Formats: sequence, C-alpha cells, structure tokens
Amino acid sequence: MRRKFAVLAAILVVLGIVVVVVAAFAGVAQTDPAAGKVESVMCATCHGADGMSAATDVPNLAGQHYEYLMEQLIAFKEGTRRNGVMNEMVRPMSLAQLRNVAAYYSTVPVTVGTSNARQ
Ligand code: HEC
Repeated sequence: MRRKFAVLAAILVVLGIVVVVVAAFAGVAQTDPAAGKVESVMCATCHGADGMSAATDVPNLAGQHYEYLMEQLIAFKEGTRRNGVMNEMVRPMSLAQLRNVAAYYSTVPVTVGTSNARQ
C-alpha cells in the first residue's frame, strides 16, 4: 500500500516537472497587468494616462501589442535601441516589471479618435 502511494507520488512529481519545463520552453510568462498599472505611474508623465500621450513627440502605448512592447523595452534596456530617456527609465527595471507594464498597456482598450491625429 505504502509502495503504491510512493509510486503515485513520484509520478505526480515527474508530471509536475514536465509541465513546468514545457511552460518554460513555450515562453509562457506570468504577467500581472494590475501591478503593471501601478508601475506605469512613472511612465504616465510622458506617455499620458493609460498610455495616450498628450505630447506629439511621445508615442501612445495604449492597446499596443504585448510582444512589440516587450521587444522595444528589452531593446532600450540592452541599449540596442537608443533613446537617452528610455534607456535610463528601463535600465533599473526587472524583466518581471517590464512584462507587467507591457501587459498593462496591451490591455488598455483603444478609443479611435482621441489621440492627436491630424485631421
Ligand atoms: C521623460 C519621458 C518618458 C518617460 C518617463 C517614459 N518614456 Fe517611454 N518613450 C519616451 C519617448 C520620447 C519615446 C520615443 C523614443 C524614440 O524616439 O525612440 C518613448 C518610447 C517608448 C516605447 C517605444 C514605443 C514604440 O512605439 O516603439 C515604449 C514601449 C516606452 N517608451 C515605454 C515606456 C515605459 C514602460 C515607461 C515607464 C517605465 C516609459 N516609457 C517612460 C519618453 C518617456
């Protein structure tokens, strides 16, 4: 009886490890958009509330694709995309913080016509 339990427990542990490894290889990353919203307070100075920028030389982030945002944020962090302000903003941030902020901006619904588009 004990032996059966031990075998069952071992199988469950192995299955658990398989799930974790598969998730890691599939690039499944946990994100927390609510935490990202809190972090985005420091981004709002330039990118506007909810990522709708009031300044015409600062891009909107609202509704942008998560993958694109992560690509740009990592490029700023690694310095392969150069912009003085953005390089400094992102450098001290962890990958988890970047994921959360990107997740937050990607979930902001875009309302067409509320930016500074030229008519
Ligand atoms: C002091 C102003 C300022 C602050 C604060 C700021 N940004 Fe930026 N951000 C900019 C400017 C200006 C650009 C355009 C850079 C360029 O021309 O390459 C930019 C570009 C970006 C881009 C690239 C957008 C695209 O369309 O390619 C992302 C993503 C971004 N910022 C995210 C953030 C996040 C996240 C924060 C907060 C952690 C933040 N920014 C804080 C000014 C700012």
